[in-house]
Parts: sequence; structure tokens; C-alpha cells
Amino acid sequence: MRTELSFAPLAGIATELLAVLAVDTQPAKGRDAKPQPTLLTADAQVQAAAAGVLATGEYKAGANETLLLHAPAGLAARRLLIVGLGKLAKATPHSVREAAGTAVRFAKPRGIREIVVALPENFSKSPLHAVAVVEGALVGDFDPDTYRSERKDQSIETLTIAAPADADRAATEAAVAEGVILGESQNFARSLVNEPGNKLTPTILGQRAALMAQEVGLGWEVHSTKMLDQLKMGAFSSVAQGSAEPPALIVLRYEPEGVTEGPILHPTDKDPSVGAPVHHPTDKDPSVGAPVLGLVGKGITFDSGGISIKPSDNMDKMKCDMAGGAAIIAAMRAIALLKPRVRVFAIVCAAENMPSGSAQKPGDVQTAMPLDPDKPGKTIEIVNTDAEGRLVLADGITYARRLGATHLIDAATLTGAISVALGKITAGAFSNDDATYARFEAGLAVSGEKFWRLPLGEEYAELIKSDIGDIKNTGGRFGGAITAAEFLHTFVEDTPWIHLDIAGVAWVEDARPFIAKGPSGAAVRSILEWVRSF
Ligand code: BES
Ligand code: MN
Ligand code: ZN
Repeated sequence: MRTELSFAPLAGIATELLAVLAVDTQPAKGRDAKPQPTLLTADAQVQAAAAGVLATGEYKAGANETLLLHAPAGLAARRLLIVGLGKLAKATPHSVREAAGTAVRFAKPRGIREIVVALPENFSKSPLHAVAVVEGALVGDFDPDTYRSERKDQSIETLTIAAPADADRAATEAAVAEGVILGESQNFARSLVNEPGNKLTPTILGQRAALMAQEVGLGWEVHSTKMLDQLKMGAFSSVAQGSAEPPALIVLRYEPEGVTEGPILHPTDKDPSVGAPVHHPTDKDPSVGAPVLGLVGKGITFDSGGISIKPSDNMDKMKCDMAGGAAIIAAMRAIALLKPRVRVFAIVCAAENMPSGSAQKPGDVQTAMPLDPDKPGKTIEIVNTDAEGRLVLADGITYARRLGATHLIDAATLTGAISVALGKITAGAFSNDDATYARFEAGLAVSGEKFWRLPLGEEYAELIKSDIGDIKNTGGRFGGAITAAEFLHTFVEDTPWIHLDIAGVAWVEDARPFIAKGPSGAAVRSILEWVRSF
């Protein structure tokens, strides 16, 4: 999708489809309250073209509700599409993002390859809306049917953003460029998650990450079995040992010029009352050492469960078990292009979890990577080989700490239990540090993603104590997402950390007006906003 920017009057723009957003401005509640659809454009000719049909009351400007007019009177456009944001009071940049996706997904099956989306006016002048329109349009453009032999490519070729004539040109241009980065990065994550296990092995995931890193100028390394042995990554290796496919330890590095290294926290990190600020552009105090952010991702390219094999129903979906790793890799892409003033590196632990003669068995004891190379690592009793995500992450987290991460965030399709708790709508979040979590939570208002914080605690940690070793890899049926998080916490210790369990939201089960069924790209946006908060 190519993006263009126009400051011309809407009525004069010749296009296959002009999309204009609308809100419901009905303020009062009660029996007589009728929806009052209001177009978010000041263009009198567009207003006039839609006035008749809006007066009928049949269109309510509900969220993602569409209304199409062919050959609209007085407009150069062949079609006028009105897309609703819902109630004015509830409309956010995220509603705008969805509406832009809805416009694109409306156009695609109708053979339309070129659309114009008008930036919402008399709503807010925030450049966030231009970002949101472009991002939403790109996310909406993605379809997962890439292996269909007679695939019809329905992609939108040209998206034109129509900005009001008085809009700040430089700010709007920058916003469009940012929207492209955000949308393309999410689609990059989705394209990785969409790949089946036979097409995206750990090695190939490593190659895709390396290729991306070269394109955007990130440092990168991809290691395999030998390096895992050298680092004594016994937990990660134990998952990989059952598969014919070698593991991949993917490392990506982003080092902005002139940002000093050092494990000293930002002063606001010590103040738990700080929750509101999302961006800290004035972090210039030279006496404060820069934070180093470590992003860790679960990259299980296929999870059969191993010897504790999963039932066949829905096992095919386990190709998405690298969605956390994909989110981390994609967030690194966006970071490389948006250039925040903070050092960031990523570790993705990629492996295939398979049953075989060489696979680990329930009851086996594994030794995880030690933080201090001269000391022994923690021992893990493997109770269930299907609890493999926490094993690869344990070593990924320890490696990130060894590399000097002052703050950690991990993303993983870790447990089925998280969707029992939160459904397939909201993802789980955990943290051992309120100030670090406050930054993440503040970013959710920008990312529009839904995360809900769940507790950690000593009583939960009790449930994963082992009779034979230090810890075991499952804590029983109850609170399964929490005991999984506590398992990770054992390796994180007191490094400020956030754990994202995206098992319930990595896959869109049913198509929505603004996004295709398939991989969601979840967590890319929120991880990025967290990074930008430093
Ligand atoms: N990859 C799964 C979790 C998962 C489930 C992801 C559904 C996406 C959709 C994870 O490795 C797993 O198998 N977890 C087990 C843990 C259990 C054995 C303690 C689970 O949730 O059942
Ligand atoms: Mn599993
Ligand atoms: Zn898994």
C-alpha cells in the first residue's frame, strides 16, 4: 500500500472511494434520545451530499457502522463511504484506527484499489488521528490467505490521507510516516505468526529476523545449539532436544547514538505515584545513567506439547506459539525506524516442541542458565512437557539480565489459563514493579490494546516448589497463568519486569469489520509505547 497526503478540498478529489468518519453526537440518554450522526468534516459539499440520507435516521454512526453512497451529488468521488466511530464521548484514536481499517476492508472485496480517507475534523486536531488512520488502514489491508494457489490479491494500492487545508503540514507528514511504520510492523508480526510450522522453523524465524535487522539497521546475532550449550541454557535446550529442527537464539540490538550505557534507573522509576506520562522527551539529566531495556519473546514455532502431547483438536493453531517472539521482533523493527532515545535489545528463544525418542520426559530434571557463570543454575523438575514456554523464557530472561537489561518485558502465548480468566478479548499482564507497570499502563491509552494486570505473590510461588529440585514447571490447574508468571519471576528476581501473556488474543477467531480472521499482531503497539516512555 502506497500512502499519499492531500490538502485539497474533499469535494474536488477524484477517487473510487472517499471515506469520511462520523460520530454520534446525541448527548442525552433516555427514551427519546435518538442517535445524531455527525460527519467529521467541515466540507459543506460532503455535508450536503450526505444530508438527505442522514436525515432518515437509518444510519446511526455506531462504531464501524458503514453507509455507502454511489455517485454522491456535487463530489468528484465516485463513492462516499461514511464510517462511524460510535458515541462522541467514547471516540478515541483507537476508534479512528478501527474505522480506517473498516473503510479498507469495505473497499477490498469490491475491487476498489485506491481510496481516500478524510482525517477527522472538528473532533480534535491531534496528529494522533493521522497516525491512527494510516496504521488502521494498513492493519485492515492484511489478509492471511497467502498460500491459496489462485489467490486474488485484493490489497489497496493507494491510500490518500485527506487533511484539512489548515493542518500543520510537517506534523501531518510525520504522523503519516509514523502510521506506516506502526501498521507495517504489526503486519510483519502477523505475517510471521501466519506462517505454518513447516514454513517457519526456528532457523527460518532467525533468518527472517536477521533480514529485517539488516533492512532497518539493527544489530543482530542468531545462535543455535552450540551457543545454548556454551551458555548452559539447559531449560531452553530441553525443549529443543525432541525436535529435528535446531533451536534459534535470536538477539537484536538497537543502540541510539549518544545514549550512554548504564544500569541506573530513571528517577521516575522510583516514584510509584508516576503513572500518567507516556513520553519523557526531557530525560536529559546527565547525572542519570540510561536504562537498558531487554525484550524477551517466546518463539515456539510449533507446540505439539511434546511427550505430554496435546489433543488433536485445534493443535494446528499451535503454529501461533511464536506470536510473543514475533511481537518482540516486530516491535524492534518499529523501534529501529522510530528511533527512541533509549537502548533496547531483544532476545527471542525459538524452538519446536516435539515428542520423539530424544524428547525430554515428565520427571526429567533440567538445569537452567545461571546468572553468574561461576555458580550453578536453578534446577527445574519437568512435570509437563507442554509447559515449555516458561522453560525457553527462563533462559532468555537470564541471558537478557546478563547482557545488562535494567528493565525487562516479555511477551508469550504462555497459558490456556489466561483465556479462561480473561477470555479472548483482554490479554494478561504481570509485573514485579509498580512504576514500570505504570509506564506500560499509560501506553495502553495510545496503543488501544487491552491488558489486565493479574497478581503475583509468594503463595502462588509456593505452588511451583519441587520435591526433587528448586522448582517445577507447572503449578496445577488453578491460577495457571499466575503460577506460569511466578515461574518466570524466579528467573527475573528483582529486575523491574513486565510479563505479557497473549495466548488468548494472538489469534482473531472471527473476522471483524476492521481486521481479518487470523493473527492479530497483539502486543507490538503496547511494547513500543512502553519503550517510548523511557
Ligand atoms: N502454547 C501453550 C499455550 C496456548 C494455549 C497458547 C492456547 C495459545 C493458545 C502453552 O505452551 C501450553 O501448552 N500451556 C499449557 C500449560 C500447562 C501444561 C501447565 C496450558 O495452558 O495448558
Ligand atoms: Mn505448550
Ligand atoms: Zn506453548
